[in-house]
Amino acid sequence: MGLTGLFAIGLATAVSAQDYQRPSVSGIGAVAQPEQIAAWDIDVRPDGLGLPVGKGTAEEGEELFADRCAQCHGDFGEGVDRWPVLTGGHDSLTEDRPEKTVGSYWPYSSTLFDYINRAMPYGDAKTLTPDEVYALSAYILAENEIVERDQELNQDNFAQIEMPNRANFFADDRAVSEAYTERCMSNCKAEAVNIVSAAPELDVTPEE
Ligand code: HEC
Repeated sequence: MGLTGLFAIGLATAVSAQDYQRPSVSGIGAVAQPEQIAAWDIDVRPDGLGLPVGKGTAEEGEELFADRCAQCHGDFGEGVDRWPVLTGGHDSLTEDRPEKTVGSYWPYSSTLFDYINRAMPYGDAKTLTPDEVYALSAYILAENEIVERDQELNQDNFAQIEMPNRANFFADDRAVSEAYTERCMSNCKAEAVNIVSAAPELDVTPEE
């Protein structure tokens, strides 16, 4: 097994033999090098922490989206066949069949950057530059009518984009809110329970 095969996290980053340090405790693996950690440390948080330097507009992203994303997500993010829909669905969240898209559902723009940057194009992840990810994100946001087509998005303004469904995400306060402090844990139903049907009678499990 070659030297690189020993690394606890195996990344393309080459580490020369003299940088290689044997950890003192277990004697196996190697101390992760700063470049290796940097390659893993790509998460982008809602407040924008982690956004790489770069910029892009929807106008710039349109052609790239057509080339690298549209075969699955459709030219306008409408989704081809059963691939995920990225646009539309606004005001559908209270319907019987809500359409949860980046535009209708996602609370933070940072998730869009992070997701594309780490996972798309599907099967060919991590092949986009930061400028391309900004431009593609801008295109999806513009198709959702959240930003203007010529609006430049960059590391300073990206996290400030207000997502339409943001307010519907809130901290779960059930443990402290008045309505839930007195919980019934036994004999909670006053009347006798009336069993109206049972799984075997309903024949929920098919014979074959
Ligand atoms: C080969 C098909 C394919 C291509 C090409 C592709 N995607 Fe995807 N995309 C997917 C699949 C499948 C998922 C869902 C993955 C999952 O849920 O694990 C997805 C999910 C997404 C999501 C999250 C959707 C959601 O609501 O959860 C975004 C955003 C996205 N893709 C953007 C892009 C962008 C931008 C590109 C072009 C750079 C791209 N995709 C290219 C197949 C594709």
